[in-house]
Amino acid sequence: METIAFFNLKGGVGKTTSAVNIAWHAASEGIPTLIWDLDPQGATSWLLKSKVKTKHEPKRFLSGKTPIGKLVKSTDYSNLDIIPAGFSYRNFEQQLLETSSQGKKNLIQKMIEPFGEHYALVILDCPPSFSLLTEQVFDTADALFIPIIPTHLSLRTFEQTYEFFKANKLKPKRLHAFFTMVDRRRTLHRVMLQHPPAVLKNRLATAIPYAAIVEQMGEQRAPLPAFDTTTVVSNAYKQLWLDIKQTLNEL
Ligand SMILES: Nc1ncnc2c1ncn2[C@@H]1O[C@H](COP(=O)(O)OP(=O)(O)OP(=O)(O)O)[C@@H](O)[C@H]1O
Ligand SMILES: [Mg+2]
Repeated sequence: METIAFFNLKGGVGKTTSAVNIAWHAASEGIPTLIWDLDPQGATSWLLKSKVKTKHEPKRFLSGKTPIGKLVKSTDYSNLDIIPAGFSYRNFEQQLLETSSQGKKNLIQKMIEPFGEHYALVILDCPPSFSLLTEQVFDTADALFIPIIPTHLSLRTFEQTYEFFKANKLKPKRLHAFFTMVDRRRTLHRVMLQHPPAVLKNRLATAIPYAAIVEQMGEQRAPLPAFDTTTVVSNAYKQLWLDIKQTLNEL
């Protein structure tokens, strides 16, 4: 089982959109895939038409009293299951803090481990923040994919994550940036794509263009490739999946 995460400290850069589209591509190839919506905004859960009905107690999952598998829901797509962002992630963060102060290590990792029996790929969609939760994700993920809009501010948040990895002895080689929402009419976007900064040397080759059809995912409540296979942006996501698969093969 491989675990990957979509992360960026910066909000609204395409983490969720990418996570959902990549999950669809993996599942459509017959790879048993689980997507875990770790963001209380619940955008991934919304796009995959999923929500938790009962109120789950994070404490019981963290202590192992209730098996985490109980949170898993199926989606409209074969080979694709989801843990929706239903239970209170504010409590979750608090519980993580308490459990780690008791000397217990990475709970996210511990919770994911049993999924190895059922899934070949686990995809984590992260909230746009640094927290104990995301730190545990940094530790757990085999590879992290960081969508970046080709602007200086977006690049800066990548550098902050890169520096955090170095300072905390996490391997920055696991960070793979990729450009999203690229608008080639904009000079800065073109310049950055042609002359990517050295810190992005480990990036994926595919750049995702800005395209209005992506917004339709929210209307259709579906991954882009589930309703569009012809546009440039849909093909870019397919290509991005091939890049990610290649990255995982090289681990
Ligand atoms: N390539 C694209 N072209 C046009 N719009 C896009 C593209 N990618 C994402 N969007 C839109 O941008 C908005 C933000 O995308 P998304 O929710 O994936 O970002 P995010 O990084 O997960 O945000 P957050 O930090 O809030 O979790 C959404 O409305 C989405 O439809
Ligand atoms: Mg998101």
